[in-house]
Amino acid sequence: MSKPRFQTEWEEMDEEYQQLQETHKVYRQKLEELTSLQTTCSSAISKQKKCLKDLRWSLTKCSKTCDEQELKLIADMKTQINDKENVFFDMEAYLPKKNGLYLNLVLGSVNVTLLSNQAKFAYKDEYEKFKLYMTIILMFGAISLFFLNYRVTDEIFNFLLVWYYCTLTIRESILMSNGSRIYGWWVFHHYVSTFLSGVMLTWPEGPVYQMFRSQFLAFCIYQSFVQYLQYYYQRGCLYRLRALGERNQLDLTVEGFQSWMWRGLTFLLPFLFCGHFWQLYNSLTLFRLGGHEDCKEWQVIMLSLTFFVLFLGNFFTTLQVVNKKIQTNQEKNHKKD
Ligand code: COA
Repeated sequence: MSKPRFQTEWEEMDEEYQQLQETHKVYRQKLEELTSLQTTCSSAISKQKKCLKDLRWSLTKCSKTCDEQELKLIADMKTQINDKENVFFDMEAYLPKKNGLYLNLVLGSVNVTLLSNQAKFAYKDEYEKFKLYMTIILMFGAISLFFLNYRVTDEIFNFLLVWYYCTLTIRESILMSNGSRIYGWWVFHHYVSTFLSGVMLTWPEGPVYQMFRSQFLAFCIYQSFVQYLQYYYQRGCLYRLRALGERNQLDLTVEGFQSWMWRGLTFLLPFLFCGHFWQLYNSLTLFRLGGHEDCKEWQVIMLSLTFFVLFLGNFFTTLQVVNKKIQTNQEKNHKKD
């Protein structure tokens, strides 16, 4: 007598269930192996880093009493130490680590390290897209505020800015934990921007507020426009670097990337510098308004100072980034010759 259909189905399911249990057992074992490898690598890296630090210190001390040949050797060793530190930085991007104070406060002690290149790329891509969508929303928000001069809409806009910059600081801290070489200033710049939007939020309605309002909205529109251009540049870098990684960094493709990057930067930089000088102009306008007979609010001088800090940090960090890129380019050309 043949088995009923439901019994055959049940037996097939049971077989799959047994197989699943086996696979999961193997997965758990591999996970344990992975955790133990991670611990071994992490402690070996910390040990090596400590030794390198001590060695660098003793080399610096030693170099004061060395002859020319030894000095050359020391310089060579220092270059190798720098190279090793870069390798350790890349290695650590694939190992779980303790969160910094900020991530610990916001997320708790959850592990934020993404273990595969694909996951890292997807997270960075999503971060860039998030910035793009928010940039578009903020641009339309600022344009519509020119026609809607209400306290409540201004407050919603400023609250959105506070939330946006706060979110960026969290996402950027996660990116840094995953090996992003983002300059500390760009993250700090978003903390300062959060503070600035927070102060704007508390600035009460009055004649001085109205005197600055249009200039601030125009600045927000311009900043969104620059961020839109920045998005295409950063996303272009991200996709091209990923393609290079997949093709084993062939020299020709690297040169192709370099020339694309310089073209992108040359186009972007004038817009960025205009934005920085607009921040300086905002700072000076607010400083002047601070002396106005109707000005009684502390927010005016505080905002003036904050815009000035943003101008200084953005302007000089951008110059530093460009200078470093020029130097790296020259070093590469030197090595080729
Ligand atoms: N915000 C967030 N991340 C940034 C960043 C920024 N402003 N600038 C650089 N990064 C990231 C890059 O994506 C890259 O990340 P990765 O390591 O994960 O790949 C890393 O930092 C290193 O980038 P770097 O090579 O130093 O610079 P870049 O070529 O990507 O960009 C600039 C150079 C000058 C275009 C960029 O730093 C920039 O736009 N700065 C100006 C920002 C500004 O002033 N805004 C206010 C406008 S009013």
